[in-house]
Amino acid sequence: MSKTINLASKIEKQLPAELVNFMQAAGEVAAAQGQKLYLVGGVVRDLLLGRTNLDLDLVVEGNAIALARQLITKINRGKITTHPRFNTAKLQWDGWSADLATARSETYAKPGALPSVEPSSIDKDLFRRDFTINAMAIRLTPGHYGELIELYGGRDDLEHRLIRILHEKSFTDDATRIWRGLRYEQRLSFQLEPDTLKLLKRDTPRLDTISGDRTRYELECILQEELPEKVFLRAEELGVLARLHLSLRGNGWLAEKFKQARQLSSPNPPPAELYLPILAYHLTIEENERLISYLRLPKALAQILRDSISLKASLGSLADPELTPSRIYYLIHGYSPPAITANSIAGDSPVARRHIQLFLDKLRYVKPTLTGNDLKRMGIAPGPRIKEILRQLHEARLDGKVTSKKEEMGLVEGWLGKSN
Ligand code: CTP
Repeated sequence: MSKTINLASKIEKQLPAELVNFMQAAGEVAAAQGQKLYLVGGVVRDLLLGRTNLDLDLVVEGNAIALARQLITKINRGKITTHPRFNTAKLQWDGWSADLATARSETYAKPGALPSVEPSSIDKDLFRRDFTINAMAIRLTPGHYGELIELYGGRDDLEHRLIRILHEKSFTDDATRIWRGLRYEQRLSFQLEPDTLKLLKRDTPRLDTISGDRTRYELECILQEELPEKVFLRAEELGVLARLHLSLRGNGWLAEKFKQARQLSSPNPPPAELYLPILAYHLTIEENERLISYLRLPKALAQILRDSISLKASLGSLADPELTPSRIYYLIHGYSPPAITANSIAGDSPVARRHIQLFLDKLRYVKPTLTGNDLKRMGIAPGPRIKEILRQLHEARLDGKVTSKKEEMGLVEGWLGKSN
């Protein structure tokens, strides 16, 4: 029998005291209820890798909701959200959180369908998981606290930097694991283990059975990676990206543009609102619409993609070095800011980029000083004339023809004089 590995001191060193205390308390409450409790999934993987991860996923052999209820009483603060259908609960307290699930096994009625689940043991719960490195657990029950459970070779695979599925039907059961596999491979600089790679290639067409909502979620996860372009490059190489859309490209261009997006957004990472229009930049209007409707993108994000593609059509005009500021303004205004920024990054004319930058830094804030009321006081009758004069004033301001209220009044008086 192999030697038991105890990770209690790693837990103590790597996780904040608040979470360590919580896990110990949870183990005690579970034991008092006659239940066994485990820390599972990504946080175990990252503990072994020495990477920061504060997402506590706990699994109990028994009843997660009953445990959560008693735990909240014990820690005497925070709140729980329960999902009786899945027998899971989320605990949130003082800015911390932990997910509690009941150990379960899964069967898939058909590929791509959500699984039927039934209560089970930790061994089976680990076996239903995506990759060996994500299928390890740590016992939290007093007396066994910190003991590592790794039944499927997860530690070995971590050591050899391999992404390996647990059984031959893994990708057929759940093709989103294809995206997940690429994500972990690129994030950790691991490699897909050869048999896993073979099955991934075999099962890539199964991605067509996955709903747009689930694919969108995977896409969002990729875009939150530190270097999402690595995942898209690999996805292109393996024919996975083409399943999302035939015209999407993961290549050197994308890598360069994503890098620029990061420089521009620094110190924050770029939001999906900026990455996504860059990813979709070379799609036609029709292709873009197909992507939007397949992924069921939220309205605002869909609008950003549409804006980005239609602004791209104006880039030719924006590349004219002779453009007046007002013309630049009218070509760009009305589009959502992330779509504008995406075009400044993804477009290839330096002049157009300079004009977009001028719009973003300055022109979009320029307004005439005079208001409709001022114009009424100057004797202009309410109606469309006021709107037209304000527009002309705005244009004059943009082009620097007037720079003060006094000059604006002079201009208006001049116009009035002419029309009288
Ligand atoms: N899981 C799985 N199959 C999926 C999704 C999740 O087996 N399609 C399992 C994995 O064991 C995973 C755990 O559920 O570790 C939690 O999922 P998630 O929070 O998505 O992943 P993490 O491992 O926490 O990874 P990340 O670091 O990307 O958050």
